[in-house]
Amino acid sequence: MTDPSTNTNMPTQLPTTELLATLAASTAAVFGGCGFNRGDSSVHVRTPITGATLGGLSAAATLDDAVSQALAVKRQWASTPSPVRGELIRVLGELLRAHKADLATLVTIETGKIRSEALGEVQEMIDICDFAVGLSRQLYGKTIASERPEHRLAEYWQPLGVVGVISAFNFPVAVWSWNAALAIVCGNPVIWKPSEKTVMSSAAVHALAVQAAAKCGAPDGLFTLVFGGADVAAAMADHPAIELLSATGSTAMGRALAPRIAARFGRALLELGGNNAAIITPSADLNLAVRGITFSAAGTAGQRCTTLRRLIVHSSIVDQLVDRVATSYRSLPIGDPLADGTLVGPLIDGMSFERLQHAIAGVGKDGGTIVTGGDRVLADQAPDGYYAQPAIAMMASQTQAMHHETFGPLLYVLTYDNIDEAIALNNAVPQGLASSIFTTDMREAERFTGPLGSDCGIVNVNIGPSGAEIGGAFGGEKESGGGRESGSDSWQAYMRRVTSTTNFGNTLPLAQGVEFG
Ligand code: UN1
Repeated sequence: MTDPSTNTNMPTQLPTTELLATLAASTAAVFGGCGFNRGDSSVHVRTPITGATLGGLSAAATLDDAVSQALAVKRQWASTPSPVRGELIRVLGELLRAHKADLATLVTIETGKIRSEALGEVQEMIDICDFAVGLSRQLYGKTIASERPEHRLAEYWQPLGVVGVISAFNFPVAVWSWNAALAIVCGNPVIWKPSEKTVMSSAAVHALAVQAAAKCGAPDGLFTLVFGGADVAAAMADHPAIELLSATGSTAMGRALAPRIAARFGRALLELGGNNAAIITPSADLNLAVRGITFSAAGTAGQRCTTLRRLIVHSSIVDQLVDRVATSYRSLPIGDPLADGTLVGPLIDGMSFERLQHAIAGVGKDGGTIVTGGDRVLADQAPDGYYAQPAIAMMASQTQAMHHETFGPLLYVLTYDNIDEAIALNNAVPQGLASSIFTTDMREAERFTGPLGSDCGIVNVNIGPSGAEIGGAFGGEKESGGGRESGSDSWQAYMRRVTSTTNFGNTLPLAQGVEFG
């Protein structure tokens, strides 16, 4: 294995806080300022690029205001034809296209994700808008064969009501759009509580949504924005007017919110922590595998819920593969996420870095060794910015520490000798979001994707676990929450299913042959 001190990546020069604040102010101006000011305020805009506070935002609506606004438009929107509702999302998609570059700049400033990924995040919003526009003409029901003569049995879908969306810092705008685009075409007003770490990106997107609604003559109050932390999230979970609460964040957050929503028989859509693995088999195309592993494990500085955390490698290829991945890691440019060529930006904050350090310290205690990475870089330039070299840890076995999501760039490597053992390792964690296998052996691929294979919601072959398209349903099992968002038939979560039986005859036959009177 390679010596960690031979790291050859070249950290870049970071921009100054003053430069970032100027960029934030001029970009915010494109969105009508979106409430941003250079002065102090109770809602802070911070950048992980230098760790500095860039300014403040004027507070958004209170939750009570947002609920009142949503309730005021709920009936009108529910009775608007869904293709007309789709028109609003079409216009939103156009605005997102027009402002893609500026939105990406705000996303990079607030999350630290690199330019290409920030542009990708905005593209993900555009994609779901396109999907939702088509969907607005396809909210199909079914006709079901009735067992009774002269009866029609049908199933169709009606708007559910007010939808609450809680989004996380790492996908500050795309995850809202997965929910909002569908919720709106399904006939529901949307209340959005973004992460406190990404208020400016959400305020900019909110400004575009409000603009789209105004352009379409849609009612005010369809889109509302509330700021706050766990207290506001809990209030949303408790609020009887919020029929569906879609929450993305940690498993701990889901554990806190789910019982509250259940206590009032509300509907929850939870997208929680991941603990995602890739199995690398002897027949794998290692060129694909090395690229897929590097993107999934080190991309977004390991801060996706789909981030690759556990590499399960056949013992016959482990040395070769780990050497190649370590070499790839050492060539990753770390630094200013706004700069061309950077592939790894900062962690979101100091707490996140501490969690990473804690996990790295645990590797040795658990009998593992760090192959490469883990050190902080660029601290001289940005004492409050937390840049870490993506790390690889060689482990003898899957330990308890590996059951907890790090949300940082730490990739554990485990070895296996037969495919069933590898699949068992993939499944032997409390989470079940995303998984993948690299193999050219169709038997192994089918085993992994089959009924006794991966127990995750996302099961990929020859790509890493991250980077899903919007067309499929997104979400996972077990402690990953069980919800499905985005594509396929996820729209059904935002609607009330109606089963309707109509008797068009002159008699009243009862189901199951029951005689009564
Ligand atoms: C998340 O990290 O919460 O599949 C969402 C992916 C992205 C979405 C990640 N399309 O990695």
